[in-house]
Amino acid sequence: MRKKIVAGNWKMNMTKEEGQALISEVVNMAKDEVNSQVVMVLCPPFPHLGYAKKMFQSQANIFLGAQNCHEKTSGAYTGEVSASILKSFDVDYVILGHSERREYFQESDELLKLKVDQALANQLTPIFCCGESLAQRQAGSGFIEFVCGQITQSLFHLSSEQFAKVVIAYEPIWAIGTGLTATSAQAQEMHAALRKHIASQHGQKLADEISILYGGSAKPSNTPELFACPDVDGGLIGGASLKSRDFIDIAKSFK
Ligand code: G3P
Repeated sequence: MRKKIVAGNWKMNMTKEEGQALISEVVNMAKDEVNSQVVMVLCPPFPHLGYAKKMFQSQANIFLGAQNCHEKTSGAYTGEVSASILKSFDVDYVILGHSERREYFQESDELLKLKVDQALANQLTPIFCCGESLAQRQAGSGFIEFVCGQITQSLFHLSSEQFAKVVIAYEPIWAIGTGLTATSAQAQEMHAALRKHIASQHGQKLADEISILYGGSAKPSNTPELFACPDVDGGLIGGASLKSRDFIDIAKSFK
């Protein structure tokens, strides 16, 4: 079933004390304010994963996510974290293919295909990121095909049963951290194109069940309009996820 999801990508932020305070605030506010049908995912840096889950076990609609996993099961990969280690800490989701990892760590479509396989093999739900650069959008044509191609390259090897477990996050690179948000028309255009592309491979019924999130300068002032779009099923939130009030208000944005 298509879920309404608001995931917070903390990126490389929050000390232990800051993280504990943020999680406590989000849990307490969510209990009173957020519709229990809305799935909330907190994606802190790795060190927080050891304690975070214990802080919201009582809250059925809050889940724990990681920001990456390695493409191998285990081994001599200093500094890396595997999907199986994440699962052993009761992690539920993992962000894969974020544009910052594609850029700074040269993560290719092919590498991400392996990471997706590792996540699914360890019962983690991938939040798979895709999106175009400003230059690609300004070129006027081909950016939709480029973004759909990212799905083809890294996800279309999956069976329908596997694909049904994936969450997609459309994050136009030019909107990430810039304060420049895609208009709801731009977001809806891409989300609809992604859903049509998924339907071409797995049929309309499955495509209609996939949650497609928007990410890129999402904040409480723009998420009500964004989340009202027929093919926008929530958000992958960066900066605004570091402020409990903003993150909760975004989770309350669904009509
Ligand atoms: O993964 C979400 C992130 O890329 C969006 O960041 O700060 O523009 O909401 P931000």
